[in-house]
Amino acid sequence: MTVDLAAKYDLRVPRYTSYPTAPHFDESVDGDVYRGWLADLDPATELSLYSHIPFCDEMCWFCGCYTKIVKRYEPVAEYLETLLQEIDLLAGALPGRLAARHLHWGGGSPTMLTGDDWLRLIDRLRAAFRFTDDAEVAVELDPRTATEDYVRALARAGVNRTSIGQQDFHPETQRAINRIQPFEMTEQVVGWMRAHGISALNMDLMYGLPYQTADRVREMVDLTVRLKPRRVALFGYAHVPWMKTHQKMIPEETLPDTAERWAQVDAASERLVAHGYVAVGLDHFALPEDELAVALGEGRLHRNFQGYTTDTAQVMLGLGASAIGQLPQGYAQNASPLKAHRESVADGRFPITRGLALSEEDRVRGAIIERLMCDLRVDVAAVATRHGRSADDFAEEFDKLEPLVADGLVAIDGATVAMTPAGRPFLRLAAAAFDAYLNRGAKRYSKAV
Ligand SMILES: C[S@@+](CC[C@H](N)C(=O)[O-])C[C@H]1O[C@@H](n2cnc3c(N)ncnc32)[C@H](O)[C@@H]1O
Repeated sequence: MTVDLAAKYDLRVPRYTSYPTAPHFDESVDGDVYRGWLADLDPATELSLYSHIPFCDEMCWFCGCYTKIVKRYEPVAEYLETLLQEIDLLAGALPGRLAARHLHWGGGSPTMLTGDDWLRLIDRLRAAFRFTDDAEVAVELDPRTATEDYVRALARAGVNRTSIGQQDFHPETQRAINRIQPFEMTEQVVGWMRAHGISALNMDLMYGLPYQTADRVREMVDLTVRLKPRRVALFGYAHVPWMKTHQKMIPEETLPDTAERWAQVDAASERLVAHGYVAVGLDHFALPEDELAVALGEGRLHRNFQGYTTDTAQVMLGLGASAIGQLPQGYAQNASPLKAHRESVADGRFPITRGLALSEEDRVRGAIIERLMCDLRVDVAAVATRHGRSADDFAEEFDKLEPLVADGLVAIDGATVAMTPAGRPFLRLAAAAFDAYLNRGAKRYSKAV
């Protein structure tokens, strides 16, 4: 039945890691606006940092992230110098040495940095920010390049969480995506991490990849749980070859069709739950004792550019090319081209090229969408009241949800909107009913399942 419904609804809608979403950012936010926003922050604010390392030594054909392939270390070393200068620039513009509770390195592959360079980077950050005692220092890690010495260096630098890119274990799929990473390789790296005290492990899995089937994704889950990650992210392969031309290396005929993708996401999700994981939001799973599952149970889950998080910080600062920051005043995104990023920082100017100053309307809609994306339900009246508004202001949005209600995907009780169990995969669509920007520009999103 879900396949018929998927055909009925246009599921090409955003994943709402922010509201408004990044395609609606524009040039009204630049380095000067950002500098003003930073200066106005309360010095008592606790913040999070996201740092982007846009390098890999080999391209995975499925990759949808912003990265560059490098065969030498020089460009990475040069980028690190820019990052260190960018940290100094930030420290100089902030109203004091603010506390940092969550640090996340994404990519690309942050593990392209050498162990010594990790120490330099984290030392510089510690000079600029006060890391809280319980600070989470998380790194996206590519096990194919990790050695035991490297894992030891990460641990020494203070890294205490890693997200391991696995995607799938099947050799046929691995060959088709240009990422050879057998189970034993990941198992060895996981062993080193535990031995050196990095015990908070996430793993990234995907469905919808070449040659995957429902049976094979069940096997993928069974292998994954043998490594006992605390969290698993299960992403549907977004095939966007018009934006990411290397994805043309994946022949379309090897990709599962929509019905098969549904079968795969159902199979993988059911299997993870059967293994004792708790489904969190759109695409995450966590062991019941993990903070993400606990936060879900207590209504404290949040969503940001990195996905689902327990992070409650009101401020996330972005560092590095393409990184997006989130401040109480709005969103600010760094330039993506490495040259533009480097030259701006060298000139002492923040490399911000796009962003969006939040309006009151954006804030209330963003809060409704975040609660729905996290809790799969939202009391629109309660959120509206907190923002000095009323649920009646959203009558049109409730009307937009009617077809989903008629199909048993959404239940409305008073002003509370809740996804039904069958409606869970349609979560993005319910959130989209509250998106005032949708259809304001021609943007093609990938399949929702
Ligand atoms: C930025 S990547 C970094 C992973 C890490 N550098 C590695 O390769 O091991 C983070 C995750 O995004 C997911 N991802 C990347 N491209 C994707 C796409 N086209 N569709 C869906 N998920 C994707 C993958 O699961 C990947 O592990």
